[in-house]
Order: sequence, then C-alpha cells, then structure tokens
Amino acid sequence: MDKISIKGQRQLSGEVKISGAKNACLTLMPLSILSPETLELTNVPNLSDITTMQTLLRSLGTSIKYNPEKSSLKLTTKNITNCTADYEIVRKMRASILVLGPLLARMGKASVSLPGGCAIGARPVDLHLFGLEKLGAKLKLKDGYIIGNVRGRLKGAKIKFPFVSVGATENIIMAASLAKGTTVIKNAAREPEVIDLCNCIISMGGNIDGVGTSTIIIDGVDHLKHTSHNVLGDRIEMGTFMLAPAIAGGKIKIRGCNTDYLNSFIEKLVETGVDIKKNKNEIIVEKNIDVLNPINVITAPYPGFPTDLQAQLMTLTCFSKGISKFEEKIFENRFMHVPELIRMGANIEVQGGTAKVTGVNKLKGAPVMATDLRASVSLILAGLASSGETVISRVYHLDRGYENIEKKLSNCGANIRRFK
Ligand code: UD1
Repeated sequence: MDKISIKGQRQLSGEVKISGAKNACLTLMPLSILSPETLELTNVPNLSDITTMQTLLRSLGTSIKYNPEKSSLKLTTKNITNCTADYEIVRKMRASILVLGPLLARMGKASVSLPGGCAIGARPVDLHLFGLEKLGAKLKLKDGYIIGNVRGRLKGAKIKFPFVSVGATENIIMAASLAKGTTVIKNAAREPEVIDLCNCIISMGGNIDGVGTSTIIIDGVDHLKHTSHNVLGDRIEMGTFMLAPAIAGGKIKIRGCNTDYLNSFIEKLVETGVDIKKNKNEIIVEKNIDVLNPINVITAPYPGFPTDLQAQLMTLTCFSKGISKFEEKIFENRFMHVPELIRMGANIEVQGGTAKVTGVNKLKGAPVMATDLRASVSLILAGLASSGETVISRVYHLDRGYENIEKKLSNCGANIRRFK
C-alpha cells in the first residue's frame, strides 16, 4: 500500500491549477442513464472515485470512453442492460446512490445496494428514498439492497426536505427531469455542484427553474439529448491548496475555480491574518505575518462554511496563537484527523460535535494514518509545516479526491514523495 513522506518546513512558492470538481463529476456522470445519446464531460479529474463511478455505470450498460490526457469522458447509455448496482461496487463509494433516481426514471425499476464511502458518520439515505417515493416510486429494503419499482412513469410532486442534503437534492433533480409534470423541491441544496448539475440538464433539453436557490422547479421532459459540458473547478481542492502557504509559509497562486464559491472559507482565512488577493478564477495566498489569529468555525450547508474544509482549516489553527473552536454540524464523526494531529503535537480537545484547538508553536513529523479523504489531506498540510518527516499511510483515501497532489505540491517547492 502506498505511503506519502513529507519533509516539512519549506517555504512554498509557485502556481497550482485546480482540477475539475470530483463531487460535481460524480453527480454529472449518472445523468448519462437518463438519455440514450452521448454525454460528453470535460475537465474531468483523474481520481479513483471517478473510476469507481465508471465501473458502476459500465455494469449498468453505459459505454464509456475516457481520455485522461484530455480530461474528458464520453458516456453513452443506449440501453440499460442491468438495473442492479452491486454491493461490491457501491460499498466503495457513497455517491453510487446517485444512480437510483436516474434508473427509476428511465427504467421504472432499480436495485441499489445501500452505500458505503468515507466513515464519517451514519450517513443514511432516507431523504433520497423520501423524495423518490413522493415521485411515485415504490421502495423497499431487502438483503441490504434498495429495491424500487415505478408503475408507468415517475410523476412530478412537491417535495420539502426537512434538512438540506446535497445528494438527495441531486437524485431528485435527475429523476424529476424525466418525470411527468412538475416537481417543486423546497429546502434544496444550493451547492455549486448542484448548480452545475442543473446547468448540464438544461443543456440536455431539461427545464429547471430556481437554479442555485432553495426552491427548485423541474418540468419533466420526455427525452434528454446529447450535450458537452465542462465540469466546474473543485472549490474544495482550491481551499485546500490555499491553506498550504498559509500553514507552511510562502506565496502561491491558485487558479481554475470560481473564487466566489469559497467566500465563507476565505472570510475565515482572512480572519486568521493570512493575506489574500482574489480575482474571479484565481487567488493568491501569502503568509506574511508570524502570528495567526484564532477563529471560530461552524460548518453549514452552502453558502455556509463547508464541512469538506473543516479538517484542513483546523490544521492551520494548530499554529495560531490562542484558542479556536470548530463546531461540526453536518457529519457527527468528522474529527478523525484529531488523534493524528495530536500525535504530531497538536493540542485539541473534542467534545461531541465541537473541537477546541489551542494553538501551539510547532508540530513535529510523525507516522500518521489517513482515515478519510479530507482528514488525510489535513495531515499532508500538517506535514508541510512540521519539523522532521511525516509519513502518511493509507493514502488511498487521498487518491479518491486529490489529483496529482504530490506533483502539484512539489512544483511549489514541497519535499513530498510517494513510496510503497
Ligand atoms: C455531499 C458531498 C460530500 C460533502 C457533503 C456535505 C458528494 C459526492 N459528496 O455528500 O463531500 O461532505 O455533501 O456538503 O457530493 N443525510 C441524511 N439522510 C439522507 C441524506 C443525508 O440524514 O438521506 C444527512 C447526512 O448523514 C449528513 C447530512 O444529511 O449528516 C448532509 O449530507 P448530504 O448533504 O446528503 O451529503 P452527501 O450528498 O452524502
């Protein structure tokens, strides 16, 4: 199994190009199920989660041409040859649940294993099922599978989610795009990846209003057609790279993502005292102060502070002067990076959904273990600023969501390498 070694305390400088957003791509790919015509995606990141989604779609009958050099994917689902999303594929990645809505919409039946993915809490799928039942699907759970059937076609409905779910919003938007009549989703997720999904469906001939708001209105159509869609840049990757010079010192320019999508994160970073110059699609981050201010962070659905950047920002606050507080409101078990950061000398106390970080002067390299995607990258960031060597094991978590991270960081002067 691969490991990553970092020899820290090197100033960073240079430029990083952000890849296409993993989370957008994972919801755009299942769109292919909704149309017999080809869906072409560009700016597709080369990540293991994208490979897993390809494997899943191929198992259903989608033919896929992937060109990693051009970062493009062509998906054609002329016929669905199998309506079962198998446990062996689905257990690797929670986003596999996103084929459920499209299968029910196109085929009127589906059998999807209950999903796995990062171990960051219970992560049920009840809201997905609630919404699909409103659209007329009959669903039951049997032997670890969600079995769904539709009499005739899905029918538009009013769906009010009790709380915001990105995946459930996406599943319902896809299913409702081919349903008969109008669907109104209240308390819909407003994440940029949901906007990207809606824009792609619209370019396939779908009818969606309220894109980017918490009320989304979908008028179902009979057919969706071919389109070519450029996947938006990965805001979480951009936020992660912004933290590298903030933690290790130096100055980096990062480009390839709409920086407005990171406003709540940028606000916090500015509060710590890090210098930021922001344009539409690029940002320059420089650490030109010695003492960072402590901050208080509460994660929330977009446009609030993203849970996917909580672990990384916590690493920065380990180096600030004073006490920072993190309240994790989205996932109940998302502090798995904490024991590893403590191994490196951090002072963090967790109580329920809150973490109290007392800044220390320095961290020291140590062998640490990646436990989930964002936790693993927070350890890389910690390693960049620590004395000595940090060796991170189980880096397959990292490969799910960060394309060429060692190369991107070493291009900026980091001493980082992967080994077996
Ligand atoms: C997506 C992102 C993930 C991000 C998360 C929150 C993808 C592939 N993943 O995950 O990186 O951290 O949004 O921004 O896009 N919940 C339920 N029942 C449901 C669905 C969700 O209780 O049916 C709960 C979850 O356990 C969680 C909260 O709702 O506590 C939000 O989850 P959700 O927004 O659905 O996250 P995902 O779509 O899984």
